[in-house]
Amino acid sequence: MAVVVFGSINMDLVVRTPRLPTPGETLTGHTFFTAPGGKGANQAVACARLGVPTRMVGRVGDDLFGEQLRASLRSFGVQDDGVLTTPGPSGVALIAVDDTAENTIVIVPGANGAVSIADIPRLERALDGARALLLQLEVPIETVVAAARAAHTRGVTVILDPAPALPLPDELYALADIITPNEHEATTLTGIAVHDDQGAIAAARALIARGARRVALKLGACGALTADAEGEQFWSPFTVTPVDTVAAGDAFNGGLAVALSEGRSFDEAIRWGLAAGALSVTRHGAQPSMPERNEVLTLLAQEHL
Ligand code: RIB
Repeated sequence: MAVVVFGSINMDLVVRTPRLPTPGETLTGHTFFTAPGGKGANQAVACARLGVPTRMVGRVGDDLFGEQLRASLRSFGVQDDGVLTTPGPSGVALIAVDDTAENTIVIVPGANGAVSIADIPRLERALDGARALLLQLEVPIETVVAAARAAHTRGVTVILDPAPALPLPDELYALADIITPNEHEATTLTGIAVHDDQGAIAAARALIARGARRVALKLGACGALTADAEGEQFWSPFTVTPVDTVAAGDAFNGGLAVALSEGRSFDEAIRWGLAAGALSVTRHGAQPSMPERNEVLTLLAQEHL
């Protein structure tokens, strides 16, 4: 019941600031820290913290960050044999988080941009015996399609996080078992503004019309909307006090994948995703904010009190 993650590994350079700067403005922030991140690596750490064997496939640079990023993955229990150290800099993300916990992120791909079709045989070995593959879009799109194909032909569940959003080839919609955009990504993919329930439903239906089998639309503090050819369903959020929303979507995808890999129902897996996402926003940083399994179980149990 292992989970495999194919995707990006970044060092996050994070400033906490009273508010997000406007173009041309200089602001004085509160604090600065570095923390391991990258949507792929975050999702891998999320899965490992929730207690399933997790294999990461991707690339880091041969710089200082590269070694720190591999060490972080290992420290959280992620198997990093599928991570290649490649000449040049590691991926980095410049992140600003404001006092309302909102953020902006600029990534520079570095080694993530060197992920190529040559990485697919390593992925295929990692997929042996796996139940789910997690994908995102911070590595070249043709490699994401090839990875989805490799998993699909082996009967491994493909969970695609279309982040950062870019137009997807039709084949990718068909290869993904579940696609998990947030509001911004759903809008970019469909051209439909997701500002309210009606917009969310319209965007989810548009993704189904493009060939997506199942959509889990992440609505942040408003929970989630799921959709398939049969219809749509809204899911309430777990209420928490957020301090940093970076990687909340990654925590959601980790919770979803772990629950599915354990044979839980799709509905149960959505609650796992929502619980993991909620817990992650109560802490700073990307990988360090991922919750442990007992925290998720406790939050899920409170729901029934
Ligand atoms: O999803 C959050 C992540 O996006 C950050 O950790 C950053 O590295 C970017 O990839």
